[in-house]
Amino acid sequence: MHSFRYQGGSLHCEDTNLESLAREHGTPLYVYSKATILDHYRRLAAGMSELDCLICFATKANSNIAVLNLLAEEGAGFDIVSAGELFRVEKAGGDPGKCTFAGVAKTRKEIEYALDRGIFSFNAESEAEVRHINEIAGEKGVKAPIAFRVNPNVDAKTHAKITTGKSGNKFGVDFDLVRDAYARAAELPNIEVRGLQMHIGSQLTTVNPFVEAVEKVGPLVEELKSNYGIEFFSIGGGIGIVYEDSLDSGDLDWWSQGQNRALTIEQYSEKLVPLLKPLGLKIILEPGRYMVGNAGVLLTEVVYEKQGTTKTFKIIDAGMNDLIRPTLYEGHHDIVPVKEPSGTKTEIVDIVGPVCESGDFFAQNRELPSVDEGDLIAVLSAGAYGFVMASNYNSRPFPAEILIDGETAHVIRARQSFDDLIAGETIPA
Ligand code: LLP
Repeated sequence: MHSFRYQGGSLHCEDTNLESLAREHGTPLYVYSKATILDHYRRLAAGMSELDCLICFATKANSNIAVLNLLAEEGAGFDIVSAGELFRVEKAGGDPGKCTFAGVAKTRKEIEYALDRGIFSFNAESEAEVRHINEIAGEKGVKAPIAFRVNPNVDAKTHAKITTGKSGNKFGVDFDLVRDAYARAAELPNIEVRGLQMHIGSQLTTVNPFVEAVEKVGPLVEELKSNYGIEFFSIGGGIGIVYEDSLDSGDLDWWSQGQNRALTIEQYSEKLVPLLKPLGLKIILEPGRYMVGNAGVLLTEVVYEKQGTTKTFKIIDAGMNDLIRPTLYEGHHDIVPVKEPSGTKTEIVDIVGPVCESGDFFAQNRELPSVDEGDLIAVLSAGAYGFVMASNYNSRPFPAEILIDGETAHVIRARQSFDDLIAGETIPA
């Protein structure tokens, strides 16, 4: 479900009117729904309840400490990819003992920091990394828990830039090489072999690639359990969400609608639980997008309209620096007026931002309800990989972030000021 709907002619998040919110806090503005995030976490936890399952939220999807705090309070762990994310998790009240640390290039500093904080496992992506962890753990006189990330060479059938489980990708250790990697790691004095991890890609819209990967890797997991006593198997993240027609009905609880929309938690758990349960291990999931994607929108104002000979441009005050998904992944985001359209008048338009790049667009040749200069629009499904991928390109300050709880709007990140933009910069004397 998500909590964005028209009420009394204006788009609301939960019980908060987004028109008034944008007028008060300015645009561009990221807005998240607390109820949606909690609902998604609880649905997944319920779907997996037959397993000994730890949900490690993929922090990279939305790392605002207020969002992390919501999930920490629910008991979630966190999948992190940098020391900076670990710092955030702890500031948010998360437990480092429930953190898995992924990433292909963990540095000495990051490994030291993670060992000091006592993370649950390093998800190692190469043998060189494990040797490095072994050396650093030895200096500290501790044993470092590790899992290898196996690259199962399964096609996730998603966008090329978010496919990670094929043998040509830089991620993980090739399926055919991983047994030997475990054998050598088990010999290292300061390494505790604790699990196996995989992550085949992001925005998967059917369960089949997950099933294929679990079926392929399952026997290896059993072997590693008997040889090295591993405790956990992480099947990564990747659960896809609905990006199109997500605001098209009164009942927005699309998880319960038809089969052809997105991957539902019911489908996911129905297929995967029976495969995972017999392994008798702790199962870790690393969902990011599923948890927060549909829980967030980007509010922006139409600044100008420009009529070209072949196109109509609606130029908005948000740019690719605020939300890069459309241009980087050809990512579709539904765009709706904040004021509920009264008629059926539509236009074919390009929605573009102010940044000096032709790639600065949110939609191209899209039929949308007519909007005028000064109107507010909402870019939907922007809660995952939105703000976290924002930059200051063109010296545009970061938008503010708001967390809605019913009628209450919490500013969880203030809009950046111009002074913030140059913080840390100096002119040599
Ligand atoms: N675990 C690992 C090891 C990952 O690399 C990722 C995402 C996840 C979990 C979470 O995947 P999710 O459940 O969110 O699909 N910026 C791109 C997505 C990049 C995903 C990177 N890794 C986008 O906006 O589509």
